[in-house]
Amino acid sequence: MPPPAATIAPARRVQGRLTVPGDKSIAHRYALFAALAEGRTTLRQYAPGADCRSTLACLRGLGVEVEEVSQGTVTLLGRGLGHLRSPSGPLDAGNSGTTLRLLAGVLAGQTFSTTLIGDESLSRRPMRRVMAPLERMGARIDATDGHPPLTIHGALLRAITHQPETPSAQVKSAVLLAGLHAEGTTSVAEPAATRDHTERALTAFGGHVRINGLTVSVTGGQHLQGQTLSVPGDFSSAAFWLVAAAALPGSHIEVDDVGLNPTRTALLGILERFGARVHVDVTTTDAGEPRGHVTVEADRMGTLDIAPDEVPGLIDELPAIAALAAHGGQVTVRGASELRVKESDRITTLVAGFRGLGINAEELADGFVIAGPATGSTRPSGGRADARGDHRMAMSFAIAALAAEHPSVIDGSDAVLISYPGFFETLARLVAPNDTL
Ligand code: S3P
Repeated sequence: MPPPAATIAPARRVQGRLTVPGDKSIAHRYALFAALAEGRTTLRQYAPGADCRSTLACLRGLGVEVEEVSQGTVTLLGRGLGHLRSPSGPLDAGNSGTTLRLLAGVLAGQTFSTTLIGDESLSRRPMRRVMAPLERMGARIDATDGHPPLTIHGALLRAITHQPETPSAQVKSAVLLAGLHAEGTTSVAEPAATRDHTERALTAFGGHVRINGLTVSVTGGQHLQGQTLSVPGDFSSAAFWLVAAAALPGSHIEVDDVGLNPTRTALLGILERFGARVHVDVTTTDAGEPRGHVTVEADRMGTLDIAPDEVPGLIDELPAIAALAAHGGQVTVRGASELRVKESDRITTLVAGFRGLGINAEELADGFVIAGPATGSTRPSGGRADARGDHRMAMSFAIAALAAEHPSVIDGSDAVLISYPGFFETLARLVAPNDTL
């Protein structure tokens, strides 16, 4: 049976106030630290997507008691550092690179061997970037040509200083998690700043982390303590609505209780550069993570050039940013070859999908150019786009399709379940019935 398809009707504008599901990156980290901590952790607004469920399933396999006490609230009974239990079979990370890479760091420091597997997409993704530093710390790791399944033979680890070639929060986090199990102080010196949720979460669980410019260090053998925490809304999910609001004249979107960690919010400056009116209000900081409201209103439509040094701060928002140019203006992205090793090759998938919707799109080796309707008319024709199993592609195509003259079909639309169950229902609510064209 082919995967489900969604039909997107053209829309004049989007309007409304909403919250988005809990942040995927933060939820993974809270669950992992809860497992390594002593005592019970309660997590509210735990991210409902399949990726964060994969993390919980893997932790159950490692002997952690995980209970879903009510919708969105999960409790975990920590086993303490170094006390996970040897699993009875392979652990399945599903589609989730964060689950697999961060767990690899944790498992490198255990006294047993574990096999981590993933779905077809995850099994194609590069793992040498985590294998190399973890092997240098003393773990032995088997893989097939640098791809999952990974079998991690845990060991007594030694501290290292790692300098990743490519900026990656997943690599940084894997090494820091292994560092918690190592003797001495492990450091990661990043080539550019990446999301710092691991650093903030470790502190929230009572751990210590030293930050000196782009170098982050942890010392092994710390004691972490279970916590009660709530996960802020996922800025990367909110991004799709913020882009829609910036792109469709007359739109106004307000997102409440969304995470506003500055390592994640570079999109807001991009929307202003494009010509939108953006208002941000940080209302609280919980467990070191700022959160609050964001309002975006369409105003002008411009031309955007995203430079390579902006890419690490926008890595998950680039598919949404591409959708800005379906409605007018032009978006050029360079220095983003990392997009080729995400859940799909996001450069190829994006360009093929946008062309399928009647939008001018051109592939570059390390990015793309999206430049409005292909026909020279004011709106793209609409058509058909295949998400190729990639959640952010499905959502980007849906936002782009709002600009079209005719309804469009997004194949593989169920991929949104990875990070944003309810995405299409929310879309229907934000596009008022009399605002469809
Ligand atoms: C993530 C880091 C990023 C991002 C991914 C989530 C994380 O990946 O694209 O969706 O939670 O650490 P990289 O570390 O590969 O850049």
